Amino acid sequence: MFNPQLLTEIRNRFHHVDNCPYQGKRVFFENAGGSLTLKSVVEVNTHFAAIPDNQGRDNPASHELVRVIDKARKDIKLFLGVDNGLVFVGESGTELLFRLVRTAILGAEKGGEVLGSTLEHPATVSACQRWCEIGNKKYVSIPHNDDTAAITPEDYEKYVTPNTRVATIIQTSPVTGMGVDVKKVVEAIRSVSPDCYIIVDGIQHAAHGALDLDDYNIDAFAVSAYKVFSKHNYGVAWVSPRLSVLPHDKLDGTAEDFWELGTRDTSAFATFSEVVNYLDWLGSHFTDSDDRRTRLVEAGKAMSKHEATLVDAMCNGVHGQKGLKDMPRVFAIGGYDNPYREGLVSLAVEGVPSAEVVTKLNEGGVRTHVRKNDYFSGNVLIPLGMENCVRVSMCHYNTIEEVKLFLSLMEAIAD
Ligand SMILES: Cc1ncc(COP(=O)(O)O)c(C=O)c1O
Repeated sequence: MFNPQLLTEIRNRFHHVDNCPYQGKRVFFENAGGSLTLKSVVEVNTHFAAIPDNQGRDNPASHELVRVIDKARKDIKLFLGVDNGLVFVGESGTELLFRLVRTAILGAEKGGEVLGSTLEHPATVSACQRWCEIGNKKYVSIPHNDDTAAITPEDYEKYVTPNTRVATIIQTSPVTGMGVDVKKVVEAIRSVSPDCYIIVDGIQHAAHGALDLDDYNIDAFAVSAYKVFSKHNYGVAWVSPRLSVLPHDKLDGTAEDFWELGTRDTSAFATFSEVVNYLDWLGSHFTDSDDRRTRLVEAGKAMSKHEATLVDAMCNGVHGQKGLKDMPRVFAIGGYDNPYREGLVSLAVEGVPSAEVVTKLNEGGVRTHVRKNDYFSGNVLIPLGMENCVRVSMCHYNTIEEVKLFLSLMEAIAD
């Protein structure tokens, strides 16, 4: 748990931390729909939005844009914990995942299978299904565990074959909140299919803990800027050296590993540098190290520790307030003592439609979101026989007092 002074400083760095411009005072527990935005991101974005110049010209403005982009690429690699390969920016997490999946499926050896899981977001599932059909590969979807709402290396072990050409892994589910041990899943895949192209969707995890791509041994990774303290309208991807040179959409005459499609938006790169600066600042409270990467890792650890305290309070109660566990009509997907959980609880209240729960929480000043049995969340809800659920998603800037308010409203709703 962050000390109160640090938590205040953290909260001061974000816009709309306890106030919505359209609703007024509110608690923000809708972080899986998009995190809060750093004030520094908005400032830098405004600055670059006004610059008329383009990159690649011989003038001071253009030189500066190029410098900012080059620096951001280094910052992003440090944030991802990766030395090799390259990073590029695209329209959104979905768009990037489609490009990565398409390139891997069409570029991999002929035939074979593409392996994913039912825990995944439709961005990877839809891309795999579409490009498997076109690329003549079989799509295999591993069912996740309904009780834990998670997927494990052992699950992958059962399905991987020497013909698994491409595999996708979701690092954390935005519906159940459960994290996946990416490194161990990759080991399970590579022990049977060493040359498999492995693509990881890190979009939900990025704001909840450190990243360490060098350790994962993967080929591609994507994050969405708006889910990790930056703005909408761009995502960031990384590709390994070998995936970077597979045939992919690019302009004729550019290098084999060139992935940018069109003029770069300098503000996308500059705002991501602000995310990395913020995490660097946060991490400096937990280590004296001069090494920036060490500080980023410490920031990740501190965020996940703080969130674990919030989740514990939400499940077990706090300061005399009953927790969800002791509300008999409340059901939490994945249970209460779940080691995979990262800052998010999806729940249902017996006899009260989830949309009504969300409305009542909103009226009480707590923002959550309803997830329905549709193409976004059906993969989790259908096997559980659930029509809908309420997603309560926290982040490291949330407080115990906010959890307490949420619980008091829940107690009244579920009574
Ligand atoms: C795990 C995961 N993957 C993919 C996406 C899609 O990202 P985007 O909204 O940037 O397209 C999301 C969005 O919430 C997500 O949580």
